[in-house]
Amino acid sequence: MTSDKRQVIVVADAGAIAETAARRLLARLKDAKSRAAVGLTGGSSPERLYRLLAQAPWRGEVPWDRVHWFIGDDRFVLETDPLSNMGMARRLFLAPVGAPPGNIHPIPTDTNYPEAAARLYEDELKSFYGADRLDPARPLFDLVLMGLGPDGHTASLFPNSRALDEKERWVVGVAKAGFEPHVPRVTLTFPALASTREMLFEVDGTDKRDILRRVLGGEDLPAARAQPVGDLVWLIDRAAAPKEYS
Ligand code: 6PG
Repeated sequence: MTSDKRQVIVVADAGAIAETAARRLLARLKDAKSRAAVGLTGGSSPERLYRLLAQAPWRGEVPWDRVHWFIGDDRFVLETDPLSNMGMARRLFLAPVGAPPGNIHPIPTDTNYPEAAARLYEDELKSFYGADRLDPARPLFDLVLMGLGPDGHTASLFPNSRALDEKERWVVGVAKAGFEPHVPRVTLTFPALASTREMLFEVDGTDKRDILRRVLGGEDLPAARAQPVGDLVWLIDRAAAPKEYS
């Protein structure tokens, strides 16, 4: 299952991934004439990018007032917990740059259970979008960042989970994570993640090379099911690049 809009960009190392991702993000924000929406991700892969956004020259270039920051998935912990994905984004760049609080849209993990948080977040996304159904001609996001887990998961969409086949819901609760950290999760589904002008995977390091080869080869793994309505970009470093891409 491969997208015909797929691009694989190989750069030198994790630092170059962050710089290239920052450039692509800025380009998408500039394309969005009025308000823009970005889906952030967790894990370690986006950390350098997040740090970069809080520094010159990037910090001065992002139109902070008109960008809205969402999160593609989160661990069901409070935002103050070190495991929180939105907590990390807030700590590394959203707080240091003083992004308007009303533009930051965390998953409400202070609810009683993941499914309740999922329902509330879906409502929030729908109200931001202004409709209950996604129109491929008018994507929800300008850019969605994604990571790749060693088992092929992306966001909190794990191999063999029911959430992979969800076609209606935009957000679901995941009672049992398929990978560490083993805390419940809340995740956007493929239809919601796919509603973007660009989906950008950041993948680095030799540890990811084998799973990346399988995903790019079209094996039926969760990350290979990501079929955005816009561009699909795999931004990878040389260490992670399978033979045929190096
Ligand atoms: C999470 C993520 C997850 C992550 C991948 C890659 O909450 O864990 O959103 O999907 O992106 O596991 O993680 P690394 O970047 O740490 O390898």
